[in-house]
Amino acid sequence: MILPITAYGHPTLRKVSEEIDKDYPSLHELIENMFETMHASDGIGLAAPQVDLPIRLFLIDATPYGEEFPEAKDFKKVFINAEIIEEGMDEDMMQEGCLSIPEIREEVSRPDWIRIQYYDENFNFHDEQYKGVLARIIQHEYDHIEGILFVDHLSSLKKTLLKRKLNDISKGNINVDYKMIFPSLKKRTVKN
Ligand code: NI
Repeated sequence: MILPITAYGHPTLRKVSEEIDKDYPSLHELIENMFETMHASDGIGLAAPQVDLPIRLFLIDATPYGEEFPEAKDFKKVFINAEIIEEGMDEDMMQEGCLSIPEIREEVSRPDWIRIQYYDENFNFHDEQYKGVLARIIQHEYDHIEGILFVDHLSSLKKTLLKRKLNDISKGNINVDYKMIFPSLKKRTVKN
């Protein structure tokens, strides 16, 4: 089932998400629905707050980047209760976008590597290091479960320049071809 995606300005996108355990209701169905939602909107990552659930769950399917980045070729993973416990001192710049912030793409600076601990969909524990494009995607999704969006990393000048566009997104004044929940439309929240 395809789920609607919370748009910029939605309060759930600003919450610090809570940990879950393996008894979380319909977890496997939720993961399946999130993959379906992400694929339907051509995303490569999706975090639970983007489907209006403030829980520490995100998933990544970087396989569409496999041609350009060999390390992304088979990278399809679920991250539960993730914690980034180390990160590089040096930063890389890379362009980012977000399904919750359609039509905006900006260069974002982030640490060039990370060490992350998390559980997969079967609640097996992992402790891994990533660099390059995978570190980039993971950090973007990890931000979501911390209530942070990629535009928060931009300079104040850039933020000022984007203010009107962001305002339009939160009001639903955009054309997207996937379902979204706009904070300011109250009851009539889903627009397609
Ligand atoms: Ni995002």
